Amino acid sequence: MKSAPFLFSPSVLMFLVIFSGIWSASTSAEPMVSLKEPPVSLEQWYKPANKRQVWLHTMFRLRREMQAISEYAEQGKPRAMDKWIKRLDKDYRKIAEMVPEWEALIKPRLLSDLETFAEKGDMPRAGRTLKMIKRTCDDCHTYYQPLVTATYRSPGYDDIKLQDTEGGTQSFEENMELLSASLNRTLIALDDGHNDIAVQSSKDLSQQLDALGESCGNCHKDDAYPRERILGKETQRRFASLQDKISAGQVRDSQKLMGEIAVTVCARCHNTHRIISDLRNVLLPDDR
Ligand code: HEC
Ligand code: HEC
Ligand code: HEC
Repeated sequence: MKSAPFLFSPSVLMFLVIFSGIWSASTSAEPMVSLKEPPVSLEQWYKPANKRQVWLHTMFRLRREMQAISEYAEQGKPRAMDKWIKRLDKDYRKIAEMVPEWEALIKPRLLSDLETFAEKGDMPRAGRTLKMIKRTCDDCHTYYQPLVTATYRSPGYDDIKLQDTEGGTQSFEENMELLSASLNRTLIALDDGHNDIAVQSSKDLSQQLDALGESCGNCHKDDAYPRERILGKETQRRFASLQDKISAGQVRDSQKLMGEIAVTVCARCHNTHRIISDLRNVLLPDDR
């Protein structure tokens, strides 16, 4: 279950961000629900074990089917419901076919009930049955969804290897520690008037970022834009200008540029990548 590839989906991001809110709020106020580890048989329905994110796509279909049935029920169109009830029935049963350990969590009987009420045109009871089905969805999600999303769909950085300046390799985390050291060494040197050290360590910083830039393609395959956004022309312009300012002894301007780099490079990247990574490490401590 190590650092599985994930889906590039904004919903993952939103989910983790929302979840982090619940997480922190719940530690202070309400007692937290205890999250449960998903059964191992789930793994075969996700990448890389599977070619597709089969489990997730079944879930997307379930949601669509539930919505179609509920909208037609509200509109009083029982005949239009028929097709969608059949689809829901099939996909709902797939839950236990795919993960037998979860069989007790679903109630296929409710689907037969739903079909009967739709046939009779009894919309109020069809609506109530739909709510009961929805409750089985929610119950499972409450306990299992967060860890499943974190395990199979959040990006991991542990397996990424970067080139260091001596031609060897370094881990993502080692690169981060070097970045931090160079950034602070530059700021300390500027503060203390050691301009030669500031020039050198700001060059180191720029090189370490170039090395980091080679790793973006691990996840952002065939998409040059993410790298350009954070490490592209604007950042290169700031570094060039920084070298000039430091050499000219313009300390205030140099400090200002360093601040801009920290915000537009480090913080901008951390706001998406590091927050999720930290959250994943909290949720899946054994995965480290
Ligand atoms: C890919 C975008 C990205 C950029 C750009 C980036 N970081 Fe990071 N940083 C991360 C991620 C992701 C983590 C968490 C890594 C992990 O959990 O293994 C991290 C973690 C860190 C850490 C903690 C390392 C540890 O020991 O856990 C430090 C310090 C850090 N970054 C500093 C910086 C500085 C300084 C810069 C800018 C000069 C920077 N980073 C730019 C993505 C980025
Ligand atoms: C036995 C457990 C279980 C049941 C029952 C279940 N789900 Fe899920 N569902 C999950 C898990 C686990 C995830 C997390 C998948 C992920 O993040 O990759 C999920 C995720 C989802 C998502 C994706 C949310 C998102 O955008 O990331 C939707 C939609 C969904 N379920 C709909 C449903 C509906 C509708 C039902 C009921 C008809 C249902 N599920 C029943 C386990 C279940
Ligand atoms: C381990 C996987 C991984 C690596 C490595 C990675 N990213 Fe990302 N990045 C993601 C995911 C996941 C998202 C959110 C979904 C998306 O936008 O594709 C994202 C989003 C982004 C975004 C869009 C955020 C926004 O503002 O909308 C940018 C920009 C970005 N990454 C830049 C980078 C850069 C630059 C690097 C290399 C230094 C990098 N990424 C390396 C996984 C990764």
